[in-house]
Amino acid sequence: MRKKIVAGNWKMNLDYNEGLGVFSEIINMVKDEVTGTQEAVICSPFIHLHSLVQLAKGYTKVSLGAQNAHQAESGAYTGETSAKMIKSIGAAYVILGHSERRQYFGETNELLAKKIDTVLANDLRPIFCIGETLQEREANQHFDIIKSQLVEGVFHLDAAHFSKLVIAYEPVWAIGTGVTASSEQAQEIHAFIRKEIVAKYSQEVADNTTILYGGSCNPKNAPELFAQPDIDGGLIGGASLKSRDFVDIVKVFN
Ligand code: PGA
Repeated sequence: MRKKIVAGNWKMNLDYNEGLGVFSEIINMVKDEVTGTQEAVICSPFIHLHSLVQLAKGYTKVSLGAQNAHQAESGAYTGETSAKMIKSIGAAYVILGHSERRQYFGETNELLAKKIDTVLANDLRPIFCIGETLQEREANQHFDIIKSQLVEGVFHLDAAHFSKLVIAYEPVWAIGTGVTASSEQAQEIHAFIRKEIVAKYSQEVADNTTILYGGSCNPKNAPELFAQPDIDGGLIGGASLKSRDFVDIVKVFN
């Protein structure tokens, strides 16, 4: 059965010492709380990543991830970080396609398809983010947008590679706004995503795909969201910067 995952996305927050402090608190609190097929993941800035991997040694249910990777294997790309480098320090995940990368860094589905390939080739698991803007939802285009993000971003993969993905549905209007999608709105899209995976691959692949919800998720609203049949956890921004809140969200599955 598919994994339940609560993943934190620290974005560009916390300096090195602050990050180590928050992560140490998280480790201390979650070590007895993450059970069964569940996993807690923190996606930190690159600066913190190696140290956090070291701190997490021995905790098999706690993993680390990056928030981006370059599409090339290596080369003259000043300022960039490769999937191979991320793999080499022992991180397990890479967030790709976050709406902030799409919006501020011009990342398109076409570029993301290349990044997905490179990340998978380096044996890392992409957390692939998709979601519609408020304008698109109001124009009733949300299903079309989600479908094109899947088709253009990841549906070129064969089933074996697709099975390494985690999908995160993050309505852009809910990110960092304090406005959460209702559990019905989120479930409706998650069920749609799973149905598209059935159509492209198979029922078995779809049943094994972890689909996270992201966007103003917090300890208060997580229980109702995570109780939906197609919501397998969350991608947590703001609330992952506070160890207590993040751990309370992790514990929703207990
Ligand atoms: P938020 O961010 O929880 O602060 O809304 C979620 C995300 O961007 O992944």
